Amino acid sequence: MKPLTDRGYPHQLDCAGGAIEIRLLTPTDQAAVLAFAQRLSTHDLLFLRRDISQPPVVAAWMEATRRGRMLSLVALRAGVLHGCATLVRDPLSWSPHVGELRVIVEAPLRGQGVGQKLTRECFAIALDMGLEKLTALMTVDQPGAIAVFEGLGFQPEALFRGHVKDREGKTHDLIALSHDVASFSAQRAAYGIDKAF
Ligand SMILES: CC(C)(COP(=O)(O)OP(=O)(O)OC[C@H]1O[C@@H](n2cnc3c(N)ncnc32)[C@H](O)[C@@H]1OP(=O)(O)O)[C@@H](O)C(=O)NCCC(=O)NCCS
Repeated sequence: MKPLTDRGYPHQLDCAGGAIEIRLLTPTDQAAVLAFAQRLSTHDLLFLRRDISQPPVVAAWMEATRRGRMLSLVALRAGVLHGCATLVRDPLSWSPHVGELRVIVEAPLRGQGVGQKLTRECFAIALDMGLEKLTALMTVDQPGAIAVFEGLGFQPEALFRGHVKDREGKTHDLIALSHDVASFSAQRAAYGIDKAF
């Protein structure tokens, strides 16, 4: 796996509600990440394997970041963390060529292009790393999430019925979208645009 190339972070994003800074997450963001996660609704957290509003889960996330198993971007306005996108991969598994993208933006900031920017940056990082396939999981009633990923060329791959339970015990379906990055990269190279992304 290739190391991350310099993508020139922090990036500035001009949004309707004010400027947003996008940069790499570091373990020193632990308290800000926890505060962000605890402001999110349970429903927005259901697509994640673990409940990131719990301090031990965030601590494990920071440790995985230190070890290079997870790479996250954060979106901040006036120094407050309002969104993040994570690329998860396990080089020791049977799927070292696969990465999973996880993106969340706080509800008041949605619809301003922050989710799309975070997702596209993570996608570009995955290309830089030489990953061959990307996946994303989401509850079926997240039209914003589906729009963001389909806009990048992700396609539905599987439906997991009743796969997650919210705090009231109600089950929800998850949809898995995927992107064949290897074919996409080959097409870009064939057109000679592989250096321009
Ligand atoms: C997915 C998510 C990060 C998108 O964040 P966002 O900042 O609102 O996204 P953007 O403003 O960049 O919108 C991107 C696109 O989605 C569209 N979109 C956003 N919300 C939408 C909605 N409710 N219905 C339909 N389309 C929507 C936008 O119109 C935009 O499309 P366009 O560029 O063609 O106009 C956000 O909805 C979220 O955090 N959802 C909960 C967590 C989740 O399910 N994450 C996905 C799992 S990987």
